[in-house]
Amino acid sequence: MNTSNVSQKGSVTWQSPSNIAIVKYWGKHGRQLPRNASISFTLSEAHTNTSVSFESKEDKGIDIDFLFEGVRNEAFQKKIEKFLTAILDEMPWLEDYKLSISSSNSFPHSSGIASSASAMSALVMCLCDIEKIIGFTTTSSLLERASYFSRLGSGSASRSVFSTAAMWGHHPDIANSSDLFAIGLQDIHPIFQDFHDDIMIISSDEKSVSSTAGHKLMEGNPYATARYQQANDRLVQLKEILSIGDVSAFGKILEDEAMSLHALMMCSDPSYVLIKPNTLVAIDAIRSFREEQNIPVYFTLDAGPNIHLMYPDDVASEVAAWRDMVLRPLCVDGRIILDKVGNGPIKLK
Ligand code: DP6
Repeated sequence: MNTSNVSQKGSVTWQSPSNIAIVKYWGKHGRQLPRNASISFTLSEAHTNTSVSFESKEDKGIDIDFLFEGVRNEAFQKKIEKFLTAILDEMPWLEDYKLSISSSNSFPHSSGIASSASAMSALVMCLCDIEKIIGFTTTSSLLERASYFSRLGSGSASRSVFSTAAMWGHHPDIANSSDLFAIGLQDIHPIFQDFHDDIMIISSDEKSVSSTAGHKLMEGNPYATARYQQANDRLVQLKEILSIGDVSAFGKILEDEAMSLHALMMCSDPSYVLIKPNTLVAIDAIRSFREEQNIPVYFTLDAGPNIHLMYPDDVASEVAAWRDMVLRPLCVDGRIILDKVGNGPIKLK
């Protein structure tokens, strides 16, 4: 590869956020291709910071060091080596550089919060930045390329590189949508642009079934075909809802998607359950509060027991008082991560 007359040594640091899916990606095939299209909000507080130092070397081959929160982590290092090997055809410069990678999360490692979206997108933002610095030319835009490679690391990570809201997966009714990378959604009503997502840690135990295994079980799920159709139908409705700012229609899809996702898990073969008793207690409390007080507060779940409590900014103070009294006691050590819709990755150095 010819990258002569360019920087052979340097360092970059990126911060990239997690995201919360509204219409869920659940089921995949081939090389990380989704069975249906999904839409998420990009978050801001739950994020990963990753630094990558690079230095050219004579011998060829993937060569990395990896520190997680300042400590060597063999398991993560192996995962990253496997990922870099898998993308070598498209990023051939990777085997000409020694990479020292160091990463940390803004949220506690044991909080039960999925970190793959922020972790993979932060790493990929660094790689896409480095290839520009060393003069490796590509035809696609930075964010499209970053989303493409993030997807290969973890499907949901493809959506984290865009501000506010993103969609991933080809949909016949949506121009430019693709299974290969996510696209940023532009037409988002202001009410959703500072929407809250309070992530309530109902359990921080390791999940009994990983997302990867869960996606696989969709292949034998008797409801799979109907599910993919349902998700694609809801996605079209949601896109319109996001543009007109209809919070109650948003809340209905948000909750229906959480319930569909966990119902699919319960009727997989073998069946499994990731929600906990306190997840159901919280769901009940949220629905009662909304009905009794007429306050637009809704929940969703990702592939785990933790509740994402979502509401517009103008009801934040009423929600906070009730949340701290009723919901906080249901959380491990009273732990809640107060997050909001955010602007996507930022370069720190
Ligand atoms: C329920 O992106 O974690 O959060 O592609 O195997 O890494 P892999 O799976 P992952 O699955 C996320 C599933 C979900 C829904 C979503 O984020 O759309």
